[in-house]
This record gives sequence, C-alpha cells and structure tokens, in this order.
Amino acid sequence: MLPERFYIGDAEVLVGADVDETVRIAAGQFAAIARKLSSEDRMMHVALSGGSTPRRLFQSLASEPFVGIVPWRSICFFWGDERNVPPNHHDSNFGVARELLLSLVPVPPSNVYRIPAGDGTAIEAAEFYERTLRQKVPIMNGFPRLDFVMLGLGANGHTASLFPHRPTLHERERFVVADHVEEVHAWRVTLTTPVFNNAAQVTFLVTGEDKAPVVEQVIAGPRDADSVPAQLIAPIDGRLTWILDTAAASQLNRPATAQQRANG
Ligand code: 6PG
Repeated sequence: MLPERFYIGDAEVLVGADVDETVRIAAGQFAAIARKLSSEDRMMHVALSGGSTPRRLFQSLASEPFVGIVPWRSICFFWGDERNVPPNHHDSNFGVARELLLSLVPVPPSNVYRIPAGDGTAIEAAEFYERTLRQKVPIMNGFPRLDFVMLGLGANGHTASLFPHRPTLHERERFVVADHVEEVHAWRVTLTTPVFNNAAQVTFLVTGEDKAPVVEQVIAGPRDADSVPAQLIAPIDGRLTWILDTAAASQLNRPATAQQRANG
C-alpha cells in the first residue's frame, strides 16, 4: 500500500500506517538514493542521526529486501551528531549504528567516519571532524555536500544536537561544533545548520504520539527557530522529506486537495 503523501510548503510529508511501514519507507528512500548514485558511479555520502528512532531503520536496512539491494560499498557513513562518549558506550550514536547495521553489511571500514567523541574533549572531536568533512566530502557552496542526511526530532524541537536557545544555532561558518548542553547535562558534537542545509536530501524520521505536537509545531507552527531548532532545516537546493507514522502525523492538518478546493 502506498503511504499517504502531501506537501506542506517545501516539505514533502510521507505517512506510514505504523512504525514498521514508516521505517520501510525510510529504508526505501535510502536504498533508492544509494542505487541511483551508484548507477552514476558516485559515492553516497550519508550522515546518520542518533537517538532511538533510527534503531528500527538500521535493523530494516540490515534485513531483506534492503540488505541485498543497497550498494553498501558505494556508501560513506558520517554522523550528524554524537554524544561525547566512546564507541562502546550505550549512548554512542556510532555504537548503535555499528551494532545494528554496519557490523552486518559489507561497508568497508575505511568508508565509516565516526565523530571521534570520547577520545578527548568534545571541542577536539569537533575540530577533527571538521577536517574529516573537508577532506572526505565534496565541497559545494563552501560546505560539505552530503547526499543524504537522516535527522530525528526531540520533543523540545531539537534536531541533531542543535538545542533550543544555544549559540550553536547561529553558527554559519564552521561545519562542526561542540556544545555543553545544560538540558542534557552533557557535551555534544554536532554538524551545523549550513551543512545540513547544503545536503541534497534531508529526511526527518519521526514516530510516536509523543512527537505529534512538536511535528506540527516545526512544520506548520509559527517560525521561531531559536525555540524550535528543527525549523532551521531548510535545504538550499536539496529536498526536505518528513517520514512519519500515523501517530506522529496525527496533529498535522492535511492541505486541501484540488478536488476539495473545487468542491469549496
Ligand atoms: C541524538 C540525536 C537527536 C535525536 C532526537 C530524537 O543524538 O540524540 O541526534 O537529535 O534524533 O533526540 O531522539 P529519539 O529518536 O530517541 O526520540
């Protein structure tokens, strides 16, 4: 069954009936972009998100049909953000992706670029990763041009590790910054808004009833990016897609269809 699909402004919204279908939609988008780039002999440069939502996506990608159709050797993996913990820490975004996906598919380890969090300070990790992005990702408009960015959404409107009212929201030069986020009492390392907005495809994957209010606020609410940092995400010339389950999309007003408009 095809997912519900509509646009709100420039944002494409795809709604899956349940979490399994929603995750399959995201895995399908990932696979389609990877296969298209591979058919053009191009590497796909991906930035993965963290938190709990991507776990199901990683499991889906590591299973049939996706595990057999994704050109894994044509993908370079990066991260949109990381907690300042070592890879084997349960909070490590890299650690989750390694456990549920990268250890199960034939991605050459040399194509996996972990944010070196936990090795030293978060500031050192950010400075190192800035150099990594400059060296390993094609530069366009002065910023790394990622082919696919997967983002999650916190109930407070943060995305990656861009948290409300933080100075990092206004970074317009550096690719990667470190921030001590009082809200989570921890150092974080995150890519910055201009990098996310330079991507060819940015996809938010959000599920669950608890996220319905913030999904509506980000997509259709008044513009207040300092309070709702996910509103900063507006690709310059790339595509923005929200892949939601029915629960997370439950407070979104669907735009009137042409027929409804014709019916008045
Ligand atoms: C992180 C993520 C963060 C996450 C949201 C949603 O490192 O935590 O990058 O931005 O995507 O907090 O997290 P859940 O998927 O766990 O709700």
